Amino acid sequence: MLDLIKSRKSVRKYTDKHISDEDLKKILEAGRLAPSWMNSQPWKFILVKSQENKDLLSELSLGQAQVKNADALIVCIADEEEWEKKGISNIQNPALNPALQGENGLIIRTSEQLVYAISYMMLEAESLGISSCIVGATGNEITGISPELYKKVKAELNLNEKQILSTIITLGYDAENADKPKQRNDFNYVVSLEKIGNEF
Ligand SMILES: Cc1cc2nc3c(=O)[nH]c(=O)nc-3n(C[C@H](O)[C@H](O)[C@H](O)COP(=O)(O)O)c2cc1C
Repeated sequence: MLDLIKSRKSVRKYTDKHISDEDLKKILEAGRLAPSWMNSQPWKFILVKSQENKDLLSELSLGQAQVKNADALIVCIADEEEWEKKGISNIQNPALNPALQGENGLIIRTSEQLVYAISYMMLEAESLGISSCIVGATGNEITGISPELYKKVKAELNLNEKQILSTIITLGYDAENADKPKQRNDFNYVVSLEKIGNEF
């Protein structure tokens, strides 16, 4: 797993080769099986293959080319309704119910859960030799980018008012073949033993 994590990189240019439905299902299955707060699973995943929807989503994402040029997209939806469906929104304890965790508690906690599903899908794709790029710079309730276009996209994707387009994963076979060294903070800068500043 660590080797996979080390070799994974964001790829924004793809070959013409198509990803099989079998592999797409494996990637989506990895997301479905991700862990979440009280097993709330506040997500939906929309697989996009049509050029029409890719173009629309690229426009919503500040024209980012990898969104329209990817072989497929997974549009990750933060679905606040799932907290109600799982009975979590009825719990009167703020430690357990995100809706009681301040003004933006629900959206913060819902987005937090998505991260696990997105990471799982990205790594499953990598394990299948399929490259990806996570796209967060897109119109939605959080960024406020292109509100009119976002309204149109929501209608197009059949999203209700509790379903937020959180993130887009672009998928395809690597056409960059670039050797990109990982740019990350040093291990000892990030990791401490017992308290910040104590080296492990
Ligand atoms: C939440 C999130 C949002 C991101 N949004 C974008 C984006 O909108 N466009 C983009 O090109 N890359 C985006 N990225 C990719 C990052 O720029 C990339 O992961 C980072 O620079 C590290 O590079 P690496 O993935 O190649 O290791 C995003 C990554 C994350 C985790």
